[in-house]
Amino acid sequence: MKGVILAAGKGSRLFPVTHHVAKPILPLANRQTIEYAFDRLKEIGITDVCVVVGEMENEMKAALGDGAPFGVRLSYVRQTEPKGLAHAVGFAKDFVGGESFVLYLGDAIYSDGFDAFAKRFEESGCANLNIVKPVPDPSRFGVANVEGERIVKLVEKPKEPESNLAMAGLYFFGPQIWTVLDDLKPSARGEYEITDAIQMLIDKGETVLAGVYDGEWFDTGTLDSFLDTSKFLVGGQTKVASTATVTGAVGPSTVIGDGAIVECTEISDSVVLPGAVVKVQGSIRHAVLGGNVSSDQN
Ligand code: G1P
Repeated sequence: MKGVILAAGKGSRLFPVTHHVAKPILPLANRQTIEYAFDRLKEIGITDVCVVVGEMENEMKAALGDGAPFGVRLSYVRQTEPKGLAHAVGFAKDFVGGESFVLYLGDAIYSDGFDAFAKRFEESGCANLNIVKPVPDPSRFGVANVEGERIVKLVEKPKEPESNLAMAGLYFFGPQIWTVLDDLKPSARGEYEITDAIQMLIDKGETVLAGVYDGEWFDTGTLDSFLDTSKFLVGGQTKVASTATVTGAVGPSTVIGDGAIVECTEISDSVVLPGAVVKVQGSIRHAVLGGNVSSDQN
């Protein structure tokens, strides 16, 4: 089995931070975000990984190279335009060849591995198995109607969800997926949705399964969710790189990256990117800081 990580997004919900560092390589607990995805894939025996990149292609290649330091073999393909997840996965078709693969949304972080799901996918021989998780706000996600283990209907961001099971950003696919992508039409938001592609598999009579995930699942795409993820990964502790220079008190859930210079009264619940220079009179709370940051008051 191979791995495909979608990492082409601009990270616009994290601007201006993502002007300094591409979202998939933003540091979380002083590791690059995408390294957690490599861990999850390696746990289920996947080391051949294709990263679908966008405008930040060169920056990503410079940061990740051939993947050897992370124990994976990386290939890269470029999604030419941001037209949705199913469009992005299409660029990985040659890399995957006729094999099964795991599709991993690059901004997802999971607390637990996927071993049981990988085994179930392989022993079932199904066309597709999707990780789902009950959520309080299903309208923000792709939503699955499930009968037993089977997904019988999928809707992307329904106004009136028929279930609380969100598609949680990790998908096991057999080669059947390539038979539907060419016929896919753009959705109301103008994107080629992976959810719609899976619905086409269901409509063709293929077996599509759900695996309910009990672990913690984070989407790092917004400032709040990025900081929540960081807090979870450092367990509320403080992580200050040995090469950082800090003047002021460092409170809980704070990560200060390599070479950063921080001068303030107190900093808590925050992430300072490597090399950032932060000179603030007063306290900093709940912030992601990169580049040069200064102010007379907080
Ligand atoms: C995408 C998928 C959606 C899925 C979600 C998980 O949504 O389209 O089905 O539930 O990821 O994070 P997007 O992040 O593009 O809004």
